[in-house]
Amino acid sequence: MRHLIDTTDISVAEVDQILETALDIIANRKKYSEACKGKKLATLFYEPSTRTRLSFTSAMMELGGNVLGFSDAASSSVSKGETVADTVRVIGCFADIIAMRHSKEGAPLVASHYSEVPIINAGDGSHAHPTQTLTDLLTIRREKGRLNDLTIGFCGDLKFGRTVHSLIKALSRYTGINVILIAPEELRLPSYIRREVCDKNHVPTREVATMEEVMSELDILYMTRVQKERFLDEEEFERLKDSFILNPERLRTAKKDMIILHPLPRVNEITRAVDNDPRAAYFRQVENGKFVRMALIYTLLKWAEERPTTPTPRLDTTLVNNSQRCSNRQCISNCEDVDHLFRTTENGDQRCVYCEARVK
Ligand code: CP
Repeated sequence: MRHLIDTTDISVAEVDQILETALDIIANRKKYSEACKGKKLATLFYEPSTRTRLSFTSAMMELGGNVLGFSDAASSSVSKGETVADTVRVIGCFADIIAMRHSKEGAPLVASHYSEVPIINAGDGSHAHPTQTLTDLLTIRREKGRLNDLTIGFCGDLKFGRTVHSLIKALSRYTGINVILIAPEELRLPSYIRREVCDKNHVPTREVATMEEVMSELDILYMTRVQKERFLDEEEFERLKDSFILNPERLRTAKKDMIILHPLPRVNEITRAVDNDPRAAYFRQVENGKFVRMALIYTLLKWAEERPTTPTPRLDTTLVNNSQRCSNRQCISNCEDVDHLFRTTENGDQRCVYCEARVK
């Protein structure tokens, strides 16, 4: 059984195949109108969402399938203490595929260890958001015509912004990618992503203090919201929330064909006046999210049918170390009764398999 838990669960060729399918869906909407007839998608959203949940719902409806699920864990038996593992085993009796969003990092990975139907990670804490990445890749492909040879500036909350983490992982597999990081000291990209993704893949990466100093170099400016819900200290959030605000004046030196992306929701980081600039691609990006999720649901269900006897990957027992604990309080392994899994990185660090936090 194939799942999508992390951007790198699918190869570059498979990503390209999903993007091609999305483009075919855009060009031939009727052809796919019954492609998932009789199939059911369960949307298990333990955390708020507008775009991801509703685009999954809309995607399945446009494929001729049906949707069930919850948008508030309080209305499900999760509120009585049911675990992720038990929940997906139950939902697998009702649905053919599951999209899960969870505030705890690694929860969709736990789900994949127990589910008999494909699991899609629809965002787990500050960790990853692979379907936003597919959305971003489709948008870049449609707007720029390529996924290679791009200079992309990531601006804002690069520490908690899961969409940034997933997109950097995905783009680092293409050639000619330059990454520029624009963030306050407190919200810098986690060092493991810089080391184990950018450096390992020879992606030139640099950190700068302002967007103005790099604006003229950028092919893509990827803005992000400062993630209020992830801060433990409200005062720190208040101090950092307006660190970077994009307005028409700051775009003065930008290339004519640069595009501005944002996973949304935005708060203050892009002024309303920027919306009228043709380079503002963030609402076009939202629509691409529906098409790429249609392609993903269609592909995962097709793979599941083609390989019906392939068992769901079980826990890799060589990674289990139940005498050790992950140091990340937001990790699912510190909230539910699961086996504790750690892998050793090339430089000898021990890293939690669920959330990728380094063992201190
Ligand atoms: N981009 C994104 O994940 O938006 P939602 O939180 O509204 O799903």
